[in-house]
Amino acid sequence: MSAGREVDLSVEIGALRLRNPILAASGTFGYGLEFAHLVNLEKLGGFVTKGLSREPMEGAPAPRLSVTASGMLNAVGLQNVGVRAFVRDKLPLLKNCGTAVIANVFGYTIDDYVEVLRVLEDAEGLAGYELNISCPNTKCGGLQFGSDPSLVAEVVGAARKAATRRPLWVKLSPLVTDIGVIAKAAVEAGADALTVANTYPGMSVNFRTGRSRLGNKTGGLSGPAIKPITLRLVWEAAKAVSAPIIGLGGIETADDVLEYVAVGASAVQVGTASFADPGASEALVAEVQKAISDVKMFSFSDIRANFLSQSG
Ligand SMILES: Cc1cc2nc3c(=O)[nH]c(=O)nc-3n(C[C@H](O)[C@H](O)[C@H](O)COP(=O)(O)O)c2cc1C
Repeated sequence: MSAGREVDLSVEIGALRLRNPILAASGTFGYGLEFAHLVNLEKLGGFVTKGLSREPMEGAPAPRLSVTASGMLNAVGLQNVGVRAFVRDKLPLLKNCGTAVIANVFGYTIDDYVEVLRVLEDAEGLAGYELNISCPNTKCGGLQFGSDPSLVAEVVGAARKAATRRPLWVKLSPLVTDIGVIAKAAVEAGADALTVANTYPGMSVNFRTGRSRLGNKTGGLSGPAIKPITLRLVWEAAKAVSAPIIGLGGIETADDVLEYVAVGASAVQVGTASFADPGASEALVAEVQKAISDVKMFSFSDIRANFLSQSG
């Protein structure tokens, strides 16, 4: 194998084949359309839409973003047009976008999740679903679906029954005692792949004004600050299940991507980095090609095997 060889980065996430393992993350890439003039979507492995709910949501009061050391807090409040408007107005425009479109789904009750999926099942043009289970379950007094294995099994099981046409990824909450237990519950209930993980609850205040820097008072921490914590979660989840894992949290460079691959990710998503540079995910595809050739490992399985042989 010569070092100049083009590395084939295509991956299979269950039944879904992606051109490469780099996707743009939910909530940081709009509905894809907003980025179409800034990014060559055909270069990406895919992108995940903003979270879609049963009904349109206005989201949280401003301010919604606050910069932190090596990261960002957001409290967007899952603002979105609602699943029906997405299917009617956005999805048809993505028909020839040339990349895998994954619909991110959320709800406050199991019925909400099922209804959103039911509407998406009737639509054309999607490659799969990603279930965001980091939402507070209103029927359980605000407890997150994703922090209790029996609730995880219940919501994923119901989603699996509703989502028969396409792969179902489940995006885990990082706010758990043992991610292995949660990962197993999700896979046993029918998840085809796991996305690890969402943001970490946090807050930022201005003691001079006495106010929170976010309209919602608290928000989710993302960006480089969370990478080491989420990297460990991916490692733990990969030890617990054999289903593919999509790692995300603080990815900015090719090294970040390959660290996630080493600990067990089959693909990655890029979130906060798109705020500083909308082309971040596209640029990473070429950077990963180069980085992988530079170390002469040539495939993700080589990177993974090297880590397992040294640290497994
Ligand atoms: C502004 C913003 C909005 C987000 N909205 C969603 C969302 O709607 N659904 C979801 O599952 N994750 C959402 N996320 C979480 C990201 O997809 C990702 O899990 C998280 O930001 C960690 O990755 P990063 O450090 O690369 O940003 C959002 C993140 C940000 C920064």
